[in-house]
Amino acid sequence: MSSMNSHYADTVHRIAVVPGSFDPITLGHLDVIARASALYDQLHVVVVHNPGKAALLPIAQRVTLIEKSIEQAQLPGRIVVASWSVGLLVDYCAEVGASVLVKGLRSGLDVTYETPMAMVNRNLAGVETVFLLPEPMHAHVSSSLVRQVAGLGGDIRPYVPGAVADFLSSALP
Ligand code: PNS
Repeated sequence: MSSMNSHYADTVHRIAVVPGSFDPITLGHLDVIARASALYDQLHVVVVHNPGKAALLPIAQRVTLIEKSIEQAQLPGRIVVASWSVGLLVDYCAEVGASVLVKGLRSGLDVTYETPMAMVNRNLAGVETVFLLPEPMHAHVSSSLVRQVAGLGGDIRPYVPGAVADFLSSALP
């Protein structure tokens, strides 16, 4: 490698954002976060309120559960957990110097749901979206299913990190 290239490698940091409602974080989300953290120098996992979804947990609680899940899973790399409520997601990206969003794709339904958002984020600010495939064992796992099963007293341990299962079993009636 030439000295110029090695200088470039020393100074350029690839920063990516993994956005979502994370209400709550699931094992599928954690799988995508782990894969993304292996690809980027710094990862921001950002909780964003989605007005189209009925919320279960306050944003701050979701952030705490993501932090605990990442800690318990001992994911390597620099991972920042944050929330964003003051504007577009691409504004957060600009604030932290990220030009890439990372999302997980479980099925063709996710492609249909994610494509317009990816196009809008690219058109708004040139922010690209990279899609990663989680392990197939997580393909059927969603936060909305977890909310439903937990709310009806079912066992959510197969679908969520231990920190989430512990919290929801003590918090929900
Ligand atoms: O986990 P979700 O609910 O599928 O995540 C969707 C989310 C929150 C990432 C999306 O709704 C979003 O990016 N909202 C921020 C507002 C915004 O920037 N909207 C325009 C581009 S989609």
